[in-house]
Amino acid sequence: VQPVEIQDPTDPRVADYVGLRDAELRRPDRGWFIAEGMLVIRQLLRSPYPVRSVLLAPRRFATLAAELEGVEAPVYVAAPAVLNAVAGFDIHRGALASADRVPTPGYRELLAGARMVVVLEAINDHENLGAIFRNAAAFGADAVLLCPRCCDPLYRRSVRVSMGQVLHVPFARVPSWPDDLAALGADGWRVVALTPDPSARPLASVARLAPQERVAILLGAEDVGLSAAAVGVAGERVRIPMVAGVDSLNVASASAIAFHHLGLPMPGD
Ligand SMILES: C[S@@+](CC[C@H](N)C(=O)[O-])C[C@H]1O[C@@H](n2cnc3c(N)ncnc32)[C@H](O)[C@@H]1O
Repeated sequence: VQPVEIQDPTDPRVADYVGLRDAELRRPDRGWFIAEGMLVIRQLLRSPYPVRSVLLAPRRFATLAAELEGVEAPVYVAAPAVLNAVAGFDIHRGALASADRVPTPGYRELLAGARMVVVLEAINDHENLGAIFRNAAAFGADAVLLCPRCCDPLYRRSVRVSMGQVLHVPFARVPSWPDDLAALGADGWRVVALTPDPSARPLASVARLAPQERVAILLGAEDVGLSAAAVGVAGERVRIPMVAGVDSLNVASASAIAFHHLGLPMPGD
């Protein structure tokens, strides 16, 4: 590919990358999102999301050039100072790309053929959300379902912390909460609520996903945890035992332990 050099941070061709720290620009109703860093851009190139443009520091272009062959979107190169001026902060990774959002499927579409899904209630921290997607990918979850109060998985920091896995693990919003969760149980899904509550069953006593079984693993927000309404519709309440006096695990850490224990057998298990 022949890159186009950008010298002026106000050049309209790099408008997608302006003010990346600006909260106003985080809104999911913007039609595009930002992928940051070489690893994430590589994942983007393998994903179903159409690339709008790529903006790289010259040394990053040298590394990525071969992989950008065949990319139809424009590739821009800018000196680090110009890159930082466009984005509004220090882009030390020197690599950004923008891509179009695509319509998310209805959540029921994602359930067809799925065996293990992750269901999230009010996860409002982008980095935790990204880390949960990374764990979901690692342990073979088929989809992530988000209650209406979860934040945007395609926000830049979530995409980055997921190492690009939000671009591969299908996700959908669950519109009616917790009624749609109850509907999963009624459809024969085993709904397992993860909670640090000492009265819940210890994880080690809970069986791994059996053949023919389908499991929905439910996790809650960092501060308040799962709502009583959500726990109420789950068939099982499960805890990861901890040392006395510790309130809880970070939700993404809890997710990794739970997915590993409950989910599909991994190669070499
Ligand atoms: C930081 S915790 C919430 C803490 C909150 N005080 C509570 O009591 O649930 C966030 C989420 O991580 C999961 N989690 C954290 N620690 C856990 C543990 N020890 N066992 C099971 N799930 C846990 C739960 O899904 C929880 O809703």
